[in-house]
Amino acid sequence: MSSSTTLKPGIDWVGFVDWNVRDFHGYSTDRGATYNAYLVQDEQTAVIDTVKAPFVGHLIRNLAAKTDLAKISYVVCNHAEPDHSSGFPALMQVLPQAQVVCNAKCKAVLAEYYDTGAWTFKVVSNGETLRLGRRSLTFVDTPMVHWPESMVSYVAEDKLLFSMDAFGQHVSSSQRFDDENSLCTIMEEARIYFANIVAPYAARVVKTVEELAGTPVEMIAPSHGVIWRRHAAEILKAYRNWSQCKPKAKVVVVYDTMWGSTGKMAEAIYEGACQPGVEVKIVSLRDTTLTRVATEILDGAAVAFGSATLNQGMLPTVAAAVNYLTGLRFSNRVGFAFGSYGWGKGGPEAVDEALKAMKWEVVREVLKAKFKPKEACLAECREAGGLLAEKALAMAAAAGYEPLVTD
Ligand code: FEO
Repeated sequence: MSSSTTLKPGIDWVGFVDWNVRDFHGYSTDRGATYNAYLVQDEQTAVIDTVKAPFVGHLIRNLAAKTDLAKISYVVCNHAEPDHSSGFPALMQVLPQAQVVCNAKCKAVLAEYYDTGAWTFKVVSNGETLRLGRRSLTFVDTPMVHWPESMVSYVAEDKLLFSMDAFGQHVSSSQRFDDENSLCTIMEEARIYFANIVAPYAARVVKTVEELAGTPVEMIAPSHGVIWRRHAAEILKAYRNWSQCKPKAKVVVVYDTMWGSTGKMAEAIYEGACQPGVEVKIVSLRDTTLTRVATEILDGAAVAFGSATLNQGMLPTVAAAVNYLTGLRFSNRVGFAFGSYGWGKGGPEAVDEALKAMKWEVVREVLKAKFKPKEACLAECREAGGLLAEKALAMAAAAGYEPLVTD
């Protein structure tokens, strides 16, 4: 299989691979990222999205290698977030004849970020089609997936969807297509991306996925990561699971500890949760990024959440995790709080309140250990882990989680 940048005859990837980025506004990008832009050549020529400003020179060189820049009639802006739009000012300098194609909300956001006074806009409505020649681009608004102005662009003649952030992954690779990369790696990166970027807008994603189900889509070209041409059905299935909050039979034990007591409780809960058919993860917040914590909870039915007590409250790492998870709005989860205390209570109780505030079903009272968990406490922890395993099995069965090829 070649490492071609050609999606279809006349349609090419012209973006930038950022091998070095490790922090994407707080998201840990261990495998780097790409900023995807595309060139569609027909009787009229269109560019789909730009790249982050520092890399716009690469975009312009990629375009010039494929076409005469003077022939480019349109530059589509599917999404105004700066990782895709901050290349516009430099690009429009070299494409003064081109029209910026976007919806009205996007035009307004672009004007907030950039001096757009000299740009010519073609404002499109939801469902509008722009004919380029043999091919056409149809624009579909996807508000709050994941900004208000977000939209996708669809080439019906090629059954090709330029899906913007949806179905993206933060991964750098010399090869542009799913079947040229490890499926396990890209599905995992898609899961991380969904958990940390798309999850708060899951309800809107459900609607978008349903709409797509009625549209023949053979190739999905997102704004980050590889292009889905062989496994488009698999990533759509994964999005149905994640966006409809269908959990796996999975228990996640998340905790931080001060002198090891909450850690011992976590290990006992983990032991109790390790039941046939149940996946169990134990996550130390002291040693794990929030990006990973969110990813593990995305498809986990049940969560034990532990904190030692510090100044009558949660440990700072636990508070940060609670704050992050509250923003991501994971629903359809069960769990309970646990942790240790000395003379003053507060850590596990604060976690309990946070779980309830997130509207998770709390399945038992707070599980606490004074100073150090004794054997009776550890036995209770194992029992509580078993309870979470039972709940996780039942929830996965009821939700109809669709197993993925990478499970
Ligand atoms: Fe990749 Fe929402 O920007």
